[in-house]
Amino acid sequence: MEMLNVALPKGRLGNKVYSMFASAGFECPEIEENNRKLIFENREKGVRYFWVKPSDVAIYVERGAADIGACGKDILLEYEPDVYELLDLGVGKCRIAVAAKKDFSYDPQRTLRVATKFVSVAKSYFASKGRDIDIIHLNGSIELAPILSLSDVIVDIVETGATLRENDLEVKEEIVPISARLIANKSSFRFKNEAIERVVDSLSRLTSIT
Ligand code: PRP
Repeated sequence: MEMLNVALPKGRLGNKVYSMFASAGFECPEIEENNRKLIFENREKGVRYFWVKPSDVAIYVERGAADIGACGKDILLEYEPDVYELLDLGVGKCRIAVAAKKDFSYDPQRTLRVATKFVSVAKSYFASKGRDIDIIHLNGSIELAPILSLSDVIVDIVETGATLRENDLEVKEEIVPISARLIANKSSFRFKNEAIERVVDSLSRLTSIT
């Protein structure tokens, strides 16, 4: 049987997504043994899983190293990879928001300093509001920026809101709701269509129940 190569985001979200694949009939028991292997396969079910850094899933899929993968909508919005988005998996729900110190108030006379790893999302959001900004591209711990006056606001993922609360920051504006999506390589979608559709069908039956 031809194998379907599946890129899963390493971490909590990836574990959830793998459980969905397992419930949908594409289990790979070996994956549950706790080790540091990055590739697992179940030949009978025709699936091979890779654990990939979450922000790299779309790269593997776009270039065809993986046929399908699970990836946050945040990554799809930011990098616009040339892939098909097949299904909202309904997990990894969070949002991209603008946050700042509680006492911050926007002054239209001044260029707004925005720290973020979502440079493209932030630029298009503020452009749509007609606001002039200066982007500070950071790679993590974005919440530090306004505390240290490196920026006025941040554009970042908010899930529970705990990180903001514990650092005396608050959401000022919501930009877009996020969840994990099933994506496919465009040529795999043609040449392995039956196998991919089988996965999509089984997963969508699950997502419609939950
Ligand atoms: C993300 C995000 C926030 C946090 C939000 O960080 O950047 O810091 O999660 O979650 P919360 O609202 O539930 O507190 P991540 O763990 O991905 O690490 P990062 O600092 O590298 O962005």
